[in-house]
Amino acid sequence: MTKKIAVLPGDGIGKEIVAEAVKLIKALQADGLDVSMEEGLVGGSAYDVTGSPLPEATLKLAREADAVLLGAVGGYKWESLDISLRPEKGLLGLRKELGLFANLRPAILYPQLADASTLKPEVVSGLNIMIVRELTGGIYFGQPRGVRTLENGERQGYNTLVYSESEIKRITEVAFDIARKRGKKVCSVDKANVLECTELWRNVVNECHKGNSDIELSHMYVDNAAMQLVRAPKQFDVMVTTNMFGDILSDCAAMLTGSIGMLPSASLNEKGQGMYEPIHGSAPDIAGKNIANPLATLLSVAMMLRYSLDEAAMADRIEKAVEKVLDQGLRTADIWSTGMKKVSTTEMGDAVVAAL
Ligand code: IPM
Ligand code: MG
Repeated sequence: MTKKIAVLPGDGIGKEIVAEAVKLIKALQADGLDVSMEEGLVGGSAYDVTGSPLPEATLKLAREADAVLLGAVGGYKWESLDISLRPEKGLLGLRKELGLFANLRPAILYPQLADASTLKPEVVSGLNIMIVRELTGGIYFGQPRGVRTLENGERQGYNTLVYSESEIKRITEVAFDIARKRGKKVCSVDKANVLECTELWRNVVNECHKGNSDIELSHMYVDNAAMQLVRAPKQFDVMVTTNMFGDILSDCAAMLTGSIGMLPSASLNEKGQGMYEPIHGSAPDIAGKNIANPLATLLSVAMMLRYSLDEAAMADRIEKAVEKVLDQGLRTADIWSTGMKKVSTTEMGDAVVAAL
């Protein structure tokens, strides 16, 4: 049966990079991939047209799809809106409404890009980390939240960090399952020395480990984890952590690979339905210039084929095609270095399609 992909370009460079992904999917359709695509509005672009960053029609489209491909949301234009109407709420709403609790963020260093990293090649060469970030709980969604005025007239902002046992358990099981197919090591990141909520996190992870004793488990405080990621990142195989810590650590891990423009992600729910997006944002400063790196989005299509569409062989083809264009010396501005050929967003997309 034809599988449905909801295509949500979003804002800023989201539109440009998703256009390249659509080009790639069309090329695969011509090669027998049985999917249909339908576009929807999300983020600031949706707000401009409908008054909501996540219109009902988009939510319906996403719910009925086998997979969602998302570009990025956000931009200067919408920064002064009330937080409930900001583009980011569109993305967070999709994650929450679809129950996409497991966010997989692989940080892989392509050997061709060893020089693009700001770290020494020997520190990062061969790097292959999978960050498993909890995505529908924690301080991002905890209640109560807001800004209130105290009796003395001073304003006070507050958010709530909250995790229930079942939320910790299900993300931990995902991390163990993934580790089993890779290096069989999980490092759980918390701040159990200060925050009760993450002390519970650590205890529940330890309890889950009893049924997964074939996996080597370690724990690390988040401040140390940030330091270790920069000091000796190759010690990590799978990292599992909370929503906010995962947000921060995945940006850090991305930079080890040379550019945040290289990192795809998958967000999965209990039914295996998934949303796929690059981990970078909408980059309003370079939007519309045809210079953004589309590779993170093209690699997100590969993850979509693998995790939601049961087309592992096609996923392999995309990943190999990306390696091939890197071998050919093609680089967008973010990963360019002397001696390489600087290409635009569309040229990079075309090259990957040609290399398929
Ligand atoms: C990410 C982004 C989002 C997040 C923003 C855009 C809401 O930074 O996907 O990492 O914080 O989760
Ligand atoms: Mg982030």
